[in-house]
Amino acid sequence: MSSREDLETWRVTFLGRRGEVTLLKRSISGVHPDERRGFGRAANAAALALESAFAVKTAAIDSPAADGAGPMDVTLPGWPTQVGSIHPVTATMREICTAFASMGFEIVEGPEVELDHYNFEMLNIPKHHPARDSFSTLWIDHSDPSGERPLLLRTHTSPMQVRTMETQAPPVRVVVPGKVYRYEATDATHEWHFTQVEGLAVDRGITFADLKGTLYEFARRLFGEKVRARFRCDYFPFVEPGAEMAIAWTPKRGQGDEAEDWIEILGAGMVHPNVLAGVGYDPDVYTGFAFGIGVERIAMLRNGIDDIRLFYANDIRFLRQFS
Ligand code: FA5
Repeated sequence: MSSREDLETWRVTFLGRRGEVTLLKRSISGVHPDERRGFGRAANAAALALESAFAVKTAAIDSPAADGAGPMDVTLPGWPTQVGSIHPVTATMREICTAFASMGFEIVEGPEVELDHYNFEMLNIPKHHPARDSFSTLWIDHSDPSGERPLLLRTHTSPMQVRTMETQAPPVRVVVPGKVYRYEATDATHEWHFTQVEGLAVDRGITFADLKGTLYEFARRLFGEKVRARFRCDYFPFVEPGAEMAIAWTPKRGQGDEAEDWIEILGAGMVHPNVLAGVGYDPDVYTGFAFGIGVERIAMLRNGIDDIRLFYANDIRFLRQFS
């Protein structure tokens, strides 16, 4: 059926006032009362199907492609579309993982909705431990009448240290990229949701020198040979000793360069014996190091961005600069 006239003839034959479907619907009075409901439903469904087929055909006949020009010409150039690009935080996360993969680390992922058990308990942070305050936590309200399995949005990627060690025997060498969440106010260097890459290496004879060597190598790969990195003591209940690493940077705010500053990019340390013992590793035989890198901070340093909130403001003018 190709013309408007043919289509109209078809419509009158089936759907017109004296059309076959219309007459069928009217004939319901002659149907046995027990069968009327089924008959009515079937007749209405048939009418609906034919009406929508009629609408589709009408649209096809009215469309410009059918308007004397024959079938659509697929060789014509298409409408210009916007080409997307990888988000700068995702790109940085991939670069970090690639750097560690080339140093022999395997990449694994874990759940963002996590059990208190993995986020805190198994990391040597029992209930009522003051260190819980430093991880302002977003709790998940779920049915847990016993109160024994509290759920939360993971505040760091460290729970994957435990999940990994629970499922494999040493030696272990993994990095864990992923989102983390904290119930805290945002400012130029803090977001309430951000990205971390966790690292864990456990074997016989691993020392703090291995930790420093690995992290300096990582800094060189991401920031170049001239990078200046600083280690200072820090406290995390799941490592002993603990450290933070910062990178020297000079924020540029348009009115001339400001004074050089340090930006903390990661927390790290030697895996605490309690954590090793908790997963069944013998702390007298095995040692290890762990670290948690803030990916947005790395992306800020590498791209000269002085406000972390720009990453998630969803401003296309900002994002286009990274395409
Ligand atoms: C931790 O999250 C520890 N799990 C890190 C760790 C892992 C220590 C393994 C020892 C062993 P911290 O809260 O400092 O630590 O966060 C780690 C990094 O994430 C920081 O150095 C920083 O780069 C980044 N970071 C922390 N809070 C924020 C935030 N609100 N917004 C953006 N980045 C953040």
